[in-house]
Amino acid sequence: MKTLFINSCIREEDSRTYKFASKFIEKLKEKHQRIIIDEIKLMDLDLKPYLYSDIKKRDELISKNDFNDPMFKYANQFKDYDFVIIATPFWDLSFPSILKVYIEKLCVNNLTFKYENNREHGLCKLSKFMLIATSGGERIDNKLNYLFDIIDFLSSKKVKKYYSYLNGLDMMDENNIKGVMKKAINDFDKIICEI
Ligand SMILES: Cc1cc2nc3c(=O)[nH]c(=O)nc-3n(C[C@H](O)[C@H](O)[C@H](O)COP(=O)(O)O)c2cc1C
Repeated sequence: MKTLFINSCIREEDSRTYKFASKFIEKLKEKHQRIIIDEIKLMDLDLKPYLYSDIKKRDELISKNDFNDPMFKYANQFKDYDFVIIATPFWDLSFPSILKVYIEKLCVNNLTFKYENNREHGLCKLSKFMLIATSGGERIDNKLNYLFDIIDFLSSKKVKKYYSYLNGLDMMDENNIKGVMKKAINDFDKIICEI
């Protein structure tokens, strides 16, 4: 199972989301010893939002079915994964903008999705998706559903979706955080058994 771990934890090693997600990855590797997990650390990429000139170039290349340009690097890479994991903090009722910029690079007409019979069809392989997030105050609940929608949009298959959220961490003391994190890490087992 080819797995892509999209790390959007801006505070890197200090990030609680990253520490939490690392436990998931650790447990996943214990259970599936031959799993291949590639990590993509968004903070290390030179990601920039599209400007008009980029979109013009992109449309021209798409019209020629030429997807070899470096601007399609992340879309080409994403296509072939079976399982995708996103780890992100909850920022401003959403997620850090770097993740949105990365998603812009994934959505490429005729490469990762296409229009057919008046609707969109995903062209990517993934059939499993896990979202890991933490918040400071708000309950995340359905507020990150856009990420599930994007995954459905890009996939050619019915995607099994999983998530684990730690809510309200900024309102807890260190002991409380350790407690909720420990419980949630134990709950990973149920998810990992299904994957
Ligand atoms: C720029 C920024 C925006 C944030 N926005 C929210 C928010 O809208 N709602 C919320 O509950 N917490 C918000 N938080 C708090 C984080 O979600 C919380 O501290 C989270 O656990 C941080 O994860 P990290 O340790 O992985 O960075 C925000 C934090 C930052 C730095």
